[in-house]
Amino acid sequence: MTILGIETSCDETAAAVCRNGTILSSLISSQEIHSKYGGVVPEIASREHDKLLTWTVQQALEQADLQKEDLDAAAVTRGPGLMGALLTGVSFARGFAQGLGIPCLGINHIEAHIYANFITYPELKYPFLCLLVSGGHTQIWEVRGLGKYDLLGETRDDAAGEAFDKGARILGLGYPGGPAIEKKARGGNPNAVQFPQAFLRSDTIEFSFSGLKTALLYHVKGMDRKMTGKVLADIAASYQEAITGVLLSKLKQSVDRTGIKTAVVAGGVAANTRLRARAREMLRNCDIVYPETRLCTDNAAMIAFLGEKHLLEKSKEGTDLSVVPNLRLDR
Ligand code: KG4
Ligand code: ZN
Repeated sequence: MTILGIETSCDETAAAVCRNGTILSSLISSQEIHSKYGGVVPEIASREHDKLLTWTVQQALEQADLQKEDLDAAAVTRGPGLMGALLTGVSFARGFAQGLGIPCLGINHIEAHIYANFITYPELKYPFLCLLVSGGHTQIWEVRGLGKYDLLGETRDDAAGEAFDKGARILGLGYPGGPAIEKKARGGNPNAVQFPQAFLRSDTIEFSFSGLKTALLYHVKGMDRKMTGKVLADIAASYQEAITGVLLSKLKQSVDRTGIKTAVVAGGVAANTRLRARAREMLRNCDIVYPETRLCTDNAAMIAFLGEKHLLEKSKEGTDLSVVPNLRLDR
């Protein structure tokens, strides 16, 4: 089976082709234009998707050495994400599929992030835990099978990726903030500043990152010396340490609570190398799995891959093409 995947939930215009569980091509046209605004401008994102989609899909087919007539289905993100951005992708995919007389599946972006782990590790077995950490989500899931997800806990306010992005803005490091803070933190002392880690000592599996961002802001405002070189590296490393520490201690708590010793990490923050290194230390007795780096952040390979899974399992999921900006996995 050969599936075209399309992803336009935020600021990446992406297309990919998956055949029988193997990714034949995966194109991501990043919308650089947003960096000058320090974050994604929704209206601009929709217009850019509209401009880039035809070319990106053509390239994905070309790189897979296929014609559009070789496709059996299209799969497209229908939520969560920015309303206009999602609508652009879904309208495009729908028309494209209709023209070819093939089915078009609507895919949950969060579910696709989780399933990106199966592209890298096809041997992954249920049940497993998933630490889902992206720009819009911070959640821990128990995954028992396709469509069988139990939420163990989530953030009360900002997502981990958002905390990285807002922190980078305060530190003047640009957008996206995660990679920028990670880079700046190299060579910095992660224990230089003790930033707050909400709920660290509580039994509940929940997160809060808004206080951390405020603490960073006050720390920077209260500094009596210029924030350059080593000082900036120390702050970035300490801020990153506060985020990764609380994420991993809640994952550890989830392992202890459920007895499930396999965990996957999904979403853009899964690309963070400090998170990966600390996971090895903090969760020694567990198997922790990550998608390869280019599959952590938004991409269409995960959309095509999950679309094929839904088609093969003939699951009802996928038949709904309505766009839902706040689409969840558990409702
Ligand atoms: O999954 P993703 O590409 O988009 C959403 O679904 O939100 O995640 C984007 C988020 C951004 O907040 C970005 O700063 C963060 O992932 N991110 C990282 C890294 N790479 C991307 N955070 C920490 N370290 C990274 N290396
Ligand atoms: Zn995402």
